[in-house]
Amino acid sequence: MTWIARSSRPGPAAAATVPAPAGAAALAAGDTGAGGDAAVRVRDLTVAFRTPGGLLPAVAGVSIDLARGHITGLVGESGSGKSTLALTLLNAVPDPGQVTAGSVTIDGVGDVLALRGSSLRRVRGASIGYVFQASQNSLNPLKPVGKQVLDLGRSHGISDLRGLLREAKSLLAEMGMNAERVLASYQHELSGGMRQRVGIALALVLNAHVVILDEPTTALDMLTQASVLEIIRKVHAQRHLTTLIISHDVGVIGDLADRMAVMYAGRIVEEGPTQQVLASPRHPYTRGLLTAMPRITGDIGEARPLPGRPPDLTSIPREGCVFRPRCPLATDECAVTEPPVTTAAEPPASTAAEPRASTAGGHRFACFVAARDVS
Ligand SMILES: Nc1ncnc2c1ncn2[C@@H]1O[C@H](COP(=O)(O)OP(=O)(O)OP(=O)(O)O)[C@@H](O)[C@H]1O
Ligand code: SF4
Ligand SMILES: [Mg+2]
Repeated sequence: MTWIARSSRPGPAAAATVPAPAGAAALAAGDTGAGGDAAVRVRDLTVAFRTPGGLLPAVAGVSIDLARGHITGLVGESGSGKSTLALTLLNAVPDPGQVTAGSVTIDGVGDVLALRGSSLRRVRGASIGYVFQASQNSLNPLKPVGKQVLDLGRSHGISDLRGLLREAKSLLAEMGMNAERVLASYQHELSGGMRQRVGIALALVLNAHVVILDEPTTALDMLTQASVLEIIRKVHAQRHLTTLIISHDVGVIGDLADRMAVMYAGRIVEEGPTQQVLASPRHPYTRGLLTAMPRITGDIGEARPLPGRPPDLTSIPREGCVFRPRCPLATDECAVTEPPVTTAAEPPASTAAEPRASTAGGHRFACFVAARDVS
């Protein structure tokens, strides 16, 4: 992920005007970070929902690159816009939402937001695998898993359905399951962890090269969560995927992601190599998230909940910094202008030795006060 200037290119559904975030402080992406090699490029994306109070953005001016062959983590509290952003990568914004600005470009696919009908259906699954939030409950309860694999193949015009079943078996076996048994099972015959693994297998069986996992371990017990995370790591590496994993749990992102982005009120407020962001968080929101997570800070006694509650679409501040109502460092300046993006200095080579940090592009954040520390 890196930064670029905002473009003026309207999105395909730019029928209504939604104000772009003032000052365009949301982290913007360019072409040098994340190793300079992005499989997915999101630019200046704004996605808004029609509400009684008007068209309100759930994603506001977001730019992000997903580095090819790497895992990017997206973290933020409930309602920050993670799923809306991810669904837009699939051109699947739910009603009454619409993309009002920006673009999503995926290698081998092109401009996803321009696709419609059969072209869009082909891309979903064949190029982009998606494991939906709460996917452990999203299998068809009336059909065994094997039939669902065949349905998926038919809907994509696959002629070699036996080959597809072989691929499904191999994926399920890679995930440590009895493939024959799982293919013959109905949803209710599988545990939550098994269903989650089946969801991942279905997302990958058509050989997608980009996979998006929305809260893949929520609602699983700790041991099952660990095993599903291990499977994601293994399948990602074996298949050379470009992976986006979404979670409200910084621990999950810290375990898995090469780079991470922190989302708040529809903006990405900080992003960078995971180890760098965790070791030296710059944005007060990222700091607050980490302090609230004993698994990361290491000392449960020192965990402190974030003050206040995340905003909903109607209560996101329209001016200044969106985090201001909850920020312990807010100044008068924060009430007026959205903070610009700042790049943190790279850490000394000795502290950057962690292998997963080697994909480093920049470490960037949008905060007036944190910016003073690096100037
Ligand atoms: N279909 C919808 N209609 C109206 N508002 C919506 C709709 N879907 C999402 N929103 C609003 O958009 C904002 C972002 O929601 P989103 O589901 O993307 O957040 P999230 O970060 O994925 O949250 P969670 O962690 O709870 O899954 C929220 O304020 C939510 O209420
Ligand atoms: S210090 Fe100001 S700019 Fe930084 S997060 Fe707080 S309110 Fe926002
Ligand atoms: Mg969500």
